[in-house]
Parts: sequence; C-alpha cells; structure tokens
Amino acid sequence: MTTNPREVLATLEAEALAAIATAADADGLEAVRIAFLGRSEGRISAVLRGLGSLPPEERPAVGQEANRVKGVVTAALEERTAALERPDGPASGTDLTLPGRRPWRGGLHPVTQAVDEIWHIFRDLGFARARGPEADTEWYNFEALNTPLDHPAADEQDTLYLVDSVLLRSHTSPVQMRTMETYPPPIRIIAPGWVYRRDTYDATHTPAFMQIEGLVIDEGVTFVDFKATLGEFARRYWGPDTQIRFRPSFFPFTEPSAEVDVKRVITRPDGTREDTDWLEIMGAGMVDPNVISNAGLDPERYTGWAFGMGPARIAMLKHGVDDLRTFFENDVRFLEQFVR
Ligand code: PHE
Repeated sequence: MTTNPREVLATLEAEALAAIATAADADGLEAVRIAFLGRSEGRISAVLRGLGSLPPEERPAVGQEANRVKGVVTAALEERTAALERPDGPASGTDLTLPGRRPWRGGLHPVTQAVDEIWHIFRDLGFARARGPEADTEWYNFEALNTPLDHPAADEQDTLYLVDSVLLRSHTSPVQMRTMETYPPPIRIIAPGWVYRRDTYDATHTPAFMQIEGLVIDEGVTFVDFKATLGEFARRYWGPDTQIRFRPSFFPFTEPSAEVDVKRVITRPDGTREDTDWLEIMGAGMVDPNVISNAGLDPERYTGWAFGMGPARIAMLKHGVDDLRTFFENDVRFLEQFVR
C-alpha cells in the first residue's frame, strides 16, 4: 500500500467511480458519497484534511488534485442519481446499441381478404356493393322471400330471435328485397355481411359467419347470363381451367334453384396437374317472381338471379385450413400467416 498522496487519490478516484457505477439505488449512492466524501469519515475528505501534515511544497499540488477528484466523484454521483431516476435510463439495462423494434404491422383477416377478392372480381364485372341491417324483421328475412314462417326452411335455419318478429338475419338474402325496394333496375349488387344461425360450434359451423349475396335484376335476364357470370367469376378467382356445375336444389326464393360446385386444377411443384373434387361454393337460382312482386316490381317485365356464398369456406380451401374455428380464435400466431 502506497502512502504517496497522489497515488492514494488515484486509487480512491477509481474505487469511488466503480462503486458509483454498480450502486443499485439511491441508498447505495448515498453510502458511496458518505464513504468517500463524508465530512468526518470520507476517504477523499481525509486526504484534504491531512494536507497540513504534508511538506509545504507538496500541499498546493496535492490539494488541487484532491479537489479535482472530489469534483469528478461529485459529478459522477449526480449523473448516476439522475440516471436511476429515468425509467428507461442506462440503469434499467437498456442496450443502446440494440437495433430498434419493428413496428407491429397489422393485416386483414383471411376471411376479410377472401371477401375483398371476391367482391373485387364482381366489381370489375360491373357490380355495386350493398348492405343491409344484421337485425332484421321476419318479413325481410323470410316472408318477403317467399318463405312462410311455418315453412321448414324458416325452421331449418334455426333463427336467433331478438324480440317478437325481429331477428338476427339468418342469411344475406334480405338485402335482395331491401335493394329492389330502394333502387330501380337494372340492379347488379354484391352484399357481404354477417349472418347468424343457431348452429353448434364445430370444425365446419359457427353461429355467426360471413355470407356474400349476389343479385342481378333487369329486363331479359336469363339462366344463361347467370351461368356465364358465375363461370367468369370462378375462372378469375381459381384460374382459367376452373369448371363449374349446377346441381338442382331448392330455395323458396328462387325458381329454379341450384347448388353451384367448382372443380379446380391444381399444379403441383413438379409441374403435374390434378383436378380437385367438386366443391360446393354457393346456393343460387333465378329470383322467384313472387319475390320480385313483393319488392313492388313487375315480374312480367323483370327477371334476375341471385346467389349466397360462404367466404370462410372459400378461404379454408384456399389456405388448406381444416377447422373453421381457427379463424375466430384470434390466435395471432395463426392469423399472422395471412398478413401480406
Ligand atoms: N340464402 C341462401 C342460404 O343462406 C342462399 C341463397 C341465396 C340461395 C340466394 C339462392 C339465392 O342458404
């Protein structure tokens, strides 16, 4: 151990700065201050107090050095005190050299993406977008659509009632009626929206789901227009080799009614091509004359066609998702895969 006062001061300076740097909190810093700069016990103060016992020629230089060290340590104490008070200061362990965090980038839900793609194709074919209320009346949901309330279809859909004759719409078809009442033909609309049924929640059913209604009403509209438009849609959505077929079906509000299936061609990574199975994409048909007259239009003059399709089903197929529920559980790790 040296007794040379300059070396003693150099050691004290280094020790004090190290103690300040590692002090965890304000109490720790106060202990360091007392140990080095305290009036009676402080080790740097002691050097200053001992100046008198040094040879007179050494006093000024040692005194100056002691004061410099005292200044450095005081400044370091102040700086560290301030740093500990800053919530994100160096004291909290922030590494200022770390690259910044990327801002979180949201994306559209896969079902919303499917709705947009489908709607955009019809928009390019000259359709407008329409909407209607999710809470609607028995009249719009059933009766106006040629479906008497005791009809099995009204029952089949197992409707969620709100009050008396007001219900959560069980399909987007009420938008057909509301549009025909409001806008004069020619009508070409696409109406995506939520619909509600008292379904059990399983891999292929949810009590609330998206539907996309399509409706065309004009003079001289035939089944040929219907088939041509749906064929064009399917080729634009799934590719030029896509085929469609119509299977006879029944809906009270269309006559004739059909279920429409598509068969796609898949190209494998090795270039070989394979047809998929027929896949049902919608219920559809020529609008029943009763529906046209319920809307106040002349069924002798106007004809039309309509469809209702399920975009969630279409999104499941597109992305190879086998459980519908994954779309609604809001697990960000799942949904993130569809951000583009
Ligand atoms: N509304 C029918 C359903 O939900 C689908 C449909 C719409 C059928 C339009 C024909 C015409 O099942």
